[in-house]
Amino acid sequence: SSKGSGEKERTLGVIKPDGFSGNYTERIKEVIVEYGFNINKEMVIQLDEELAAKFYAEHSSKSFFSSLIKYMTSGPVLVMILEKENAVAHWRDLIGPTDAGKAKLTHPQSIRAMCGVDLEKNCVHGSDSHQSAEREIAFFFKETPSDEAVEKHDEL
Ligand code: PPS
Repeated sequence: SSKGSGEKERTLGVIKPDGFSGNYTERIKEVIVEYGFNINKEMVIQLDEELAAKFYAEHSSKSFFSSLIKYMTSGPVLVMILEKENAVAHWRDLIGPTDAGKAKLTHPQSIRAMCGVDLEKNCVHGSDSHQSAEREIAFFFKETPSDEAVEKHDEL
């Protein structure tokens, strides 16, 4: 089933606790759809310390790690699989710089400028590469490559 020249890619988008509890979800989803992403799957989840630490394992030695885990477990998050051509790069563009305070100055149209506060409370997450996107999607949605193959097969 060819979709023409553009191959679709998936990325993981997360609306972090302050974004979710601050009622930014609908506005963020409007922007997502406006930019041509399809929201393939979504799930609201309350992370516990163990799950959050596993998700951010690569940052476990960073000075901000314990603070990040506390923040990410402070309330429910909305986890989404976002699909479009170049989804990883486009989602990173759309959310803007990590430091939401700076985003307000340099990328006023970005999602982090809209709903983030600072370097920690930056409202949303986006996978930083195709590989981490697939790993993070599998982490939350318990997918395996064979599941995907089965789904594709069933659609035919
Ligand atoms: S790094 O060091 O370049 O790998 O870090 P970076 O990619 O910028 O950020 C990785 C995630 O850590 C969060 N972060 C922080 N949280 C709290 N305090 C501070 N100072 C801080 N710095 C970075 C940042 O929001 C990233 O989270 P995700 O969910 O991946 O966007």
